[in-house]
Amino acid sequence: MHAPEATLPGFGNHHVSEAVAGALPVGRNSPQHTPFGLYAEQFSATAFTAPRHENRRSWLYRLRPAAGHPPFALYGRDSLLRSGPFTDYPASPNRLRWNPMPLSGDPVDFIDGLVTIAGNGDAASGHGCAIHLYAASASMIDRAFFCADGEWLIVPQVGALRIVTELGVLTIAPRQIALIPRGLRFRVELPDGPVRGYICENHGGLFRLPDLGPIGSNGLANSRDFEAPVAAFEDVERSCKIVQKFQGRLWTTTLPHSPFDVVAWHGNAAPYRYDLTRFNTIGTVSYDHPDPSIFTVLTSPSDTPGTANIDFVLFPPRWMVAEDTFRPPWFHRNVMSEYMGLIEGEYDAKAGGFAPGGGSLHNGMAAHGPDAASYARAIAATLSPQKIDNGMAFMFESRLPFCTTGWAMQTPLLQPDYDACWTGFAKAQLPGTRPGTRPGTQGEKP
Ligand SMILES: [Fe+2]
Repeated sequence: MHAPEATLPGFGNHHVSEAVAGALPVGRNSPQHTPFGLYAEQFSATAFTAPRHENRRSWLYRLRPAAGHPPFALYGRDSLLRSGPFTDYPASPNRLRWNPMPLSGDPVDFIDGLVTIAGNGDAASGHGCAIHLYAASASMIDRAFFCADGEWLIVPQVGALRIVTELGVLTIAPRQIALIPRGLRFRVELPDGPVRGYICENHGGLFRLPDLGPIGSNGLANSRDFEAPVAAFEDVERSCKIVQKFQGRLWTTTLPHSPFDVVAWHGNAAPYRYDLTRFNTIGTVSYDHPDPSIFTVLTSPSDTPGTANIDFVLFPPRWMVAEDTFRPPWFHRNVMSEYMGLIEGEYDAKAGGFAPGGGSLHNGMAAHGPDAASYARAIAATLSPQKIDNGMAFMFESRLPFCTTGWAMQTPLLQPDYDACWTGFAKAQLPGTRPGTRPGTQGEKP
């Protein structure tokens, strides 16, 4: 790549970057004569007419127009990638949990190492999401990918990803995330060997930082900690296969050159990375604890205010100081649907079975919460300031119930006994009753 691997700070900022001095036109986006004869191309991540504060677009100046490609044909290999509507299985009201995918032994690249575990909504009508898992052991070589169905939020769990995009290079590792705009071409290289992780493909409103309300102007994920790449390009005359995901299916074509030939760009439609350890965690300093929405990193809004199409929520290391409080996540039933993953360590509501790289699904109104062992430990604890520093979990939370794919329901990674973690709770004892006494209806007035 020409130009160093470097980044520009700020979420949604209008960035300006050129890998060759003088490549960016000044004063016009598409002048009659561009510098060096580069091709000007607008890359739109929102409709042209989206409100100004939501509008995302960038201008790209490249060696050849992206339009120069042969027709796409269906990708020859079987793929387990899917998009909504999901019709493999009826949406399940059951609590589900999966073990982590094994790390890939055979050389499999990022494209062929993808599988969809669940999703909701409909890619075509622009709502909902798809949750993919990846496990790969080889870099993509002379292959590029883009998703025409939605932006991708990539959450690594094992191994580093060097993501070469049309707008530059971002390297991420576990505890970092990357956001790849819909339609942006990219290649994934594995500088440190095998990788595994999670992806949320967002079909709805673009991920953005949540409003902060009474928190004020700072806190949670801070805008300045998001990083976009600087312009970098390849001038390579070698054939490159492009694979795109379009309406849930993979299509492919071949270019006689690298597609990563953008010499300069400016705008606010760009890939980003974010270091999750920079998340400014807000919590109680008195009693109880706030709803987990206090941990929202990014949100994709729906048409209903405050009711997300999808939220990306982080449970990072943090201090617990609440007095007279059950400190782990409480029992709850939620109109929203929750897919949880674990990047490392343990999650404070589960004493076992939820492994790094694994996942759990609690669809809308499914009762869940701590398992019996975690509950017993929490109510017996002597409360003093305590740091949870042995884990990092996250949640993709959606207003729409998740449907699982055929792969998700048939894989041996699906745990058959997840419900068992909510057995073994002793019945609460009311005053005046003893264990073994006959129960009856209490408290009704005749
Ligand atoms: Fe929950």
